[in-house]
Amino acid sequence: MGLFLAFLLAVYYWVWSRSRFVRLINAIPGPKALPLLGNVLDLNVNHDEFLRVANFKWIKEHGSIYRVWFTLRPMIGIAAPEFLEPIFTNSATAIAKSIEYDVLISGFGKSLPLAKADLWKKNRRILNPTFNVNILNNFMGAFNDKSLVCAREIEEAVQCNNGGEINVFPIMTRCTLDIICETAMGEKKLSDEEKANYIKNIHGFQNVFQLRLKRPWLRLDWIFKLSDPGRRNKQFCQGIRDFSEMLIKDRRKLLKQIRNNEKKNECQNGIDIDGDKKEKNMVYMDRLIKESDVNGNFTHDEMIDEVSAMMAGGHDTSTLTFTWFLYMMARNPEKQELVMDELNLVFGGTDRSCSSEDLLELKYLECCIKETMRLYPSVPFVLRHLPEDIEIDGYILPKDVTIGVMIYGMHHNPRVYPDPESFKPERFFPENSVGRHSYAFIPFSAGPRNCIGQKFAMLELKVVLANLLRRFQFSLRDPTEPKIECLMEITIKPKTNVNLIVSKRDLQVL
Ligand code: HEM
Repeated sequence: MGLFLAFLLAVYYWVWSRSRFVRLINAIPGPKALPLLGNVLDLNVNHDEFLRVANFKWIKEHGSIYRVWFTLRPMIGIAAPEFLEPIFTNSATAIAKSIEYDVLISGFGKSLPLAKADLWKKNRRILNPTFNVNILNNFMGAFNDKSLVCAREIEEAVQCNNGGEINVFPIMTRCTLDIICETAMGEKKLSDEEKANYIKNIHGFQNVFQLRLKRPWLRLDWIFKLSDPGRRNKQFCQGIRDFSEMLIKDRRKLLKQIRNNEKKNECQNGIDIDGDKKEKNMVYMDRLIKESDVNGNFTHDEMIDEVSAMMAGGHDTSTLTFTWFLYMMARNPEKQELVMDELNLVFGGTDRSCSSEDLLELKYLECCIKETMRLYPSVPFVLRHLPEDIEIDGYILPKDVTIGVMIYGMHHNPRVYPDPESFKPERFFPENSVGRHSYAFIPFSAGPRNCIGQKFAMLELKVVLANLLRRFQFSLRDPTEPKIECLMEITIKPKTNVNLIVSKRDLQVL
């Protein structure tokens, strides 16, 4: 019987391996694949090695378009901007997420980042307006306030360490959590315990995701549920959901209070609140609650999923950019000085708040942020599903294959960026950007399914960094130490603590 089954499997494999789909995939260059296992063994390595193999080794050996087999499922990796054009300009391909993302459903359901095309179109249309310019400008106060809280945390940490090095990653994590909760989630102030619990759960969840990507057998739900990572994942997901439920409950309570007060004022003053204006300025959480309660567009569970996804998307990516940015400033003191010159010019050496007008002046700071995101794009790759055959670089990529947009690999590709490992913000000066392909720099992805929070993120980054750099100088104890390496999870993490020496600058207090 066993022999017969083995024979049937062998026949199936023989027929499958001669199919049009497999022939087209194997016409694309890529690492040597084993029968059935494909390249799984090449990828069953540490997270830092995974990043190196997928983004450097294979691109160097096989070119900016390569194929790789995860057992019987192939992926085509792409790391050149011109090859991405057919992906991002085709409306069907640009929005079709690949099934590899389905392992995230246990944490985020069918929320915006995971939704299939039709649901995604409907929900993105509903939620897009909650990141419009008016709403974002209203967040400037919170960005400023929370950066001062962050500055105080930094000072306390420096004092606790007697002026020694401090690890900036956890401090920036708390800052971005404070910011997203105070803004998009509707003025929620988190306790230290709430933050710590959330961080533990989200990091645990990300770690398991990476494990499932590397070990395809864990993608089978029934095996996963019985496994140790599966059991841990269940707890992490429950923690993430409880947190989101708490945010929704607290906002509902606050909205009820606000509504009662408004009614009282209307009765006393006889004024009608401008409903249309209120609607346009509705923050993310309020829109979600309204769409659920009034228009029936989200169930309670779907709201929890959306909030969980927005929380994850909205804090981890920005935290990492903050952390890598401060690290780059410490490693490149001459660039930090240039940022300071600009800040002194705009703020005159004072501690005044940062306004929307100031941000337009902070051009060098913006180039440094962009160069940080080029070197350390928080999301190292995004995946798409091909709903139809397309041709790239003379190869036919068959319908149903997964496309890996290798953002990290492309941002480090010497064909795209000469001397790619050096921190050179001047690359982003307008005169040096002439002729650069619009898909060469895509930390927020590209096409219609790009990051919904990218304008939010850029404002948050500029305000917080302008406030921190005016107050502190960042440096390394040993400037000659090798660069901190990256780990490839859903996002790019530093392999070790990012320990920086932080010294206070003189600032005129207004
Ligand atoms: C430096 C900061 C950030 C980076 C580098 C970043 C990057 C990305 C990337 C690469 C994607 C994937 C798109 C794709 O699959 O093609 C994405 C999606 C998303 N991001 Fe961001 N992001 C950042 C900040 C934010 C913030 C602040 C928020 C919320 C306030 C946010 C919310 C989301 C959401 C909800 C999605 C899913 C969008 C959709 O599928 O429609 N992100 N982000």
